[in-house]
Amino acid sequence: PVAPPCAMVIFGAAGDLTKRLVMPALYNLCCSGLLPENFALVGVDLVQQDKDAWAQNLHDFLVSTRKKGGEGADQDHAVDETAWGRLAATMSYLSGDFSSEDTFERLSDHLEKLDHEKGLGKNVLFYLAVAERFFGSTVEGLGRAGLTVQEGESWRRVVIEKPFGHDLASAIALDKQVLSVLSEDQVYRIDHFLGKETVQNIMALRFANGLFEPVWNRDRIDHVQITVAETVGVEQRGSFYEHTGALRDMVPNHVFQLLAMTAMEPPSAFDAEAIRAKKAEVFTSMHALAPDNAVRGQYAAGELGGDPVPAYRDEAHVSPTSVTETFVAMKVMIDNWRWAGVPFYLRTGKRMSKRKTEIAIRFKQAPFAMFRNTRVDVLGDNWLIISIQPEEGIRLQFNAKKPGPMLTFERVSMNFNYDDWFKQAPSTGYETLIFDCFIGDATLFQRADQLEAAWRVVQPVVDNWALHDASFPNYAAGSAGPEEANHLLEREGRFWLPI
Ligand code: BG6
Repeated sequence: PVAPPCAMVIFGAAGDLTKRLVMPALYNLCCSGLLPENFALVGVDLVQQDKDAWAQNLHDFLVSTRKKGGEGADQDHAVDETAWGRLAATMSYLSGDFSSEDTFERLSDHLEKLDHEKGLGKNVLFYLAVAERFFGSTVEGLGRAGLTVQEGESWRRVVIEKPFGHDLASAIALDKQVLSVLSEDQVYRIDHFLGKETVQNIMALRFANGLFEPVWNRDRIDHVQITVAETVGVEQRGSFYEHTGALRDMVPNHVFQLLAMTAMEPPSAFDAEAIRAKKAEVFTSMHALAPDNAVRGQYAAGELGGDPVPAYRDEAHVSPTSVTETFVAMKVMIDNWRWAGVPFYLRTGKRMSKRKTEIAIRFKQAPFAMFRNTRVDVLGDNWLIISIQPEEGIRLQFNAKKPGPMLTFERVSMNFNYDDWFKQAPSTGYETLIFDCFIGDATLFQRADQLEAAWRVVQPVVDNWALHDASFPNYAAGSAGPEEANHLLEREGRFWLPI
């Protein structure tokens, strides 16, 4: 597909998200010729500056990350100034307050003018790269100015970034507010995990192969572990993180999306509605989380890669007595025909020993009878490990006979690695997602019902934690998380894979 003519308006154009992720993705799209031929990029922000200052700032950041080999898909490549020039030529900037009518009226006039000059087919993608508290009012502002009206073939779409609510009640209220202005098919709720190639590949693995699906159920699978371990702390986001915490930041969105990809029933077609309906079913089949199936943690000072790192409570913009969790582990159950009785253990945390996102599926043991009279007293487990990042690939572990006269086994591994096979590392994900917004493919975006069902699962724990203070800190930075997270599995005779 080719992206149709359109304008893209970024609210929060001078903010961090625009600089770190949205703009590098647009630049990458520009380099690969995937931006619409007729295109206008409009920045809106409270910051008073002109278009040149805005563009310069974004350009300088892009250059600095490429030099350091930092964020961005083409991190080892210098910025292609010709491509940047093409992108910069599409840019314009409006300073204004998102809560003032005047801003939306000026925006409306500006868009009309751009449409006239560039032939944009009245198509507009509004990207809300703003703090959560502005979501509702910005959408209402768009509505009042008539900017969400789609005439004939033209489209108006709005991209919202997480967090989608702070709890179940606020998620429902936000959906209500947004859907009072827009129809569901105009709303694109971004979860950037869904843009990762390795995450999308879970569907290919499961449904484009005849091999895995027959064993993908409670008859053959003992349990599933999903780990999203990060080495980073809260960086400059202390004040955001203080009232968010690991559960809200990661679980009802990123971690649950990995879970849904792993657990969903095969959709009838590879299209947005079919796939999103199957994912929503996973969440509605889940038991609400009992507080004794959830563990929270907060890091103390420790060491990472030989360097000392401060405790969470000593980070910038964090209270010295903070009870915000930086780690969470939980056991969730999906009560349907495929998964009844199969625990899904989930964990995510900051300042852990390694950066690692993976889904590990443990199959049930083979009957041992055949080896009863041999020297073999242990058979290794069969694991299928889907590595999302930083390693990107799939590993199948099974037992093989060790060479020699004796019958002994060793667990060996078949590995597929993206880099080795495709000679190209997958991209950051934002490129795919933004391109999908241009072409109107909502497959990789969250739907309101999914999100509300996900909040319903975690809400009892959110409530319970609000009532009881935790004894924090309870894990050292650079470790695998608090000891209680191990008990969650040990009490059922299982163990986490090492991080
Ligand atoms: C974000 C969270 O949504 O995802 C961050 O707010 C987290 O706290 C990040 O670090 C992880 O994303 P990635 O792509 O770096 O694994």
